[in-house]
Amino acid sequence: PSSAGGQAGATRRPVACIVLGMAGSGKTTLMQRLNSHLHEAKRPYYLINLDPAVLDTPFGANIDIRDTVNYKEVMKQYSLGPNGGILTSLNLFATKFHEVLGLVEARAEELDFVLLDTPGQIEIFTWSASGAIISESLAASMPTVVVYVVDTPRCSSAVTFMSNMLYACSILYKTKLPLLLVFNKTDTWMSDLDAFRDALQEEKSYMGTLATSMALMLEEFYAGLTSVGLSARTGEGVDDFFDAVQRAAAEYDETY
Ligand code: GTP
Repeated sequence: PSSAGGQAGATRRPVACIVLGMAGSGKTTLMQRLNSHLHEAKRPYYLINLDPAVLDTPFGANIDIRDTVNYKEVMKQYSLGPNGGILTSLNLFATKFHEVLGLVEARAEELDFVLLDTPGQIEIFTWSASGAIISESLAASMPTVVVYVVDTPRCSSAVTFMSNMLYACSILYKTKLPLLLVFNKTDTWMSDLDAFRDALQEEKSYMGTLATSMALMLEEFYAGLTSVGLSARTGEGVDDFFDAVQRAAAEYDETY
C-alpha cells in the first residue's frame, strides 16, 4: 500500500500529528476521541504522550515521557518551578527522541498514524529547542502535520480569535510544517462557520477593528491552512478531521 499520506507506490509510512493548543483547548479530550475512533475503525496507530506533568491520561500511550523522566524529581534536582520542570523534562526526553523514532520506524509499515500529545502550556513545546528537535526529527522521518486546537467558544471575541490565529501563524512559520486548525467544542458554540465570521464582524471596539485589519493582513496565511470544526466531546466532525489530516499530509508530500 501507499503511505497514509497518499503517495502511490511509495513505502507505507504513518502520518504524524503533533497536537498543540492553548491550555484547556481540549488536546487531551481530542486525543481520547481520536484514540477511540481509530481503535473502533481498526486503524493501526501509535500514541505518544509528551506531557510530563499530566496526572492521568484517559488514553493508554504507547510511548510516555513519564516512563523516562520523573518531572517532580527534575523540579527538585534542578530547583525549578512547575514550568521550568516541564521544560527541562522535555529537554531531557528530546535527547532520547532518536530512540523513540527508532521504535516508531520499526513499525512504520504497519501504522497509519502517530499522534503526539504535548504539554498543557503550549510555549513549552513551541518555543523550546526540544520542541524543535522533536518536530524536525519527526518530519525528517515521516509526513508530519501540526494540529492546532482552538477553544472555539473562547474565540467569540475578535481579539481572542486574532490572538489565537497569530499564535497559529507563528507556529506555522516556525515549524514550516503543514498546519491543520481544529476548531474544537462545536457542540457548545458555532456549528456554522459563517455565523462565526459574522460574530467577528460585529466586534466594534478599537481592538476589534485592529483585529479585523490584522485578519485581512493574514489572508496569505489563511490561504495556506486547512481547517476543520469538531467536537472532541461528542465526536462530531472526527471523520472530517481525518480527511483534513490526509489533505495536510499530501501538502507535506509536495513540500518535503
Ligand atoms: P491542558 O490539560 O491544560 O493541556 O488542557 P487540554 O488542552 O488537554 O484540554 P482538556 O482536554 O483537558 O479539556 C479542557 C476542558 O474542555 C475540559 O473540561 C473538557 O471536558 C472540555 N472539552 C474538551 N473538548 C470539548 C468539546 O468538544 N466540547 C465541550 N463542550 N467541552 C470540551
